[in-house]
Amino acid sequence: MIRLNLLIMACLAGFLVLTPLGVHAQGLTEQRFARLARGINISHWFAQVYDKKGYTPEHFWSYVNDADFDLIQSLGFTHVRLSVEPKPLLDWDNPGELNADYLVDLDKAIDALLARNLAVIVDIHPHPDFNKKLANDPAHADAFVHFWSNLAEHLSQRDPEMVFLEVLNEPIMAGDKWLPLQERAVKAIRAAAPQHTIIANPPLWSGLNDLLKMTPLEDDNIVYNFHFYDPGLFTHQGANWGWVTWAHSAGTPYPITPESIADVLPRIEHEQTRKELEHAARQRWDAARIDAEIGRAAQWAAKHGVRLTCNEFGVYRQHADLDQRAQWLSDVVRACEKYNIGWAMWDYQGGFALVQRVDGMPVADRQTVEALGLKPAQGNTTNIQPGGS
Ligand code: BGC
Repeated sequence: MIRLNLLIMACLAGFLVLTPLGVHAQGLTEQRFARLARGINISHWFAQVYDKKGYTPEHFWSYVNDADFDLIQSLGFTHVRLSVEPKPLLDWDNPGELNADYLVDLDKAIDALLARNLAVIVDIHPHPDFNKKLANDPAHADAFVHFWSNLAEHLSQRDPEMVFLEVLNEPIMAGDKWLPLQERAVKAIRAAAPQHTIIANPPLWSGLNDLLKMTPLEDDNIVYNFHFYDPGLFTHQGANWGWVTWAHSAGTPYPITPESIADVLPRIEHEQTRKELEHAARQRWDAARIDAEIGRAAQWAAKHGVRLTCNEFGVYRQHADLDQRAQWLSDVVRACEKYNIGWAMWDYQGGFALVQRVDGMPVADRQTVEALGLKPAQGNTTNIQPGGS
């Protein structure tokens, strides 16, 4: 009886709300935010699917399986960022209806992660053509808001302590287009899912400098996100997407200092890349610089009284020196943890991989696991060879 009275008093005081799911702390408590402490992006599963099988159950349930979920749990991750391509889910002419078949598999994926006590960020992560439509056509922007309203209603049945809703990965469009659209989407999500924490993104590629220009929205149940891949010449060396200089920057070391680039600089033929590398060396990209950069994000968050997560950071493996890659990962994680910023590494088994498959079974790369400050369990780690992923 005393317990019941306390519960009623807490509800009246606004600390707790009774929901069909039980009793929950309201809004973004420490406990809820702690779910974002350590995460991994399961890429190429429900978004950016390059597998010939496409967005089908055959792909979904062969690309990952229970062994992957068990591994992620055993390594000590607290959450998974689940990238979702909206195209198969959304009919632009009828955004009020979500593709029920796709939802079945998406729900199954969320169930599998929640069953391992892993929180889930449902991240709308489209092909860039989708973002172009949103930026250039008001009818598509309206449909997107309508789409989120439906998806949020569907996801509102989930435990708000465990499921987070991310409006749009790297919007690509500039702030004048993106920020008003995000605000509309947030309002639609909030109306449909009153208790769920929303992850909001800065414009363009959601970098740190774009975050610093943002003014938080009038909703105190939002975590602000940024992506950290600086310096790109190191993290994306040899990448055939993104900035042109990345394709020419294979061999870029970390830390980047005038001394460390002395050998590599003469080997780089592309003039712009050479200039950028020299510039990065003058800036001295090392642990102290990463700490200072991430510290700027933390200052912004403190000024506005909001929480942050960094839900993409990582190093493309193909050309990077793996010891230097591990050092960079460790420096980013240490800075995030120092400033109480959540993190999620990019990615699970793509080009920036945490795991490789051995006889079909996932095995984590020991060096990456240690760089992230996680504890490998016996038998679940190995050393991934250079270039392998
Ligand atoms: C993109 C991926 C890319 C990664 C690192 C993500 O946001 O969607 O395609 O591999 O960033 O560049």
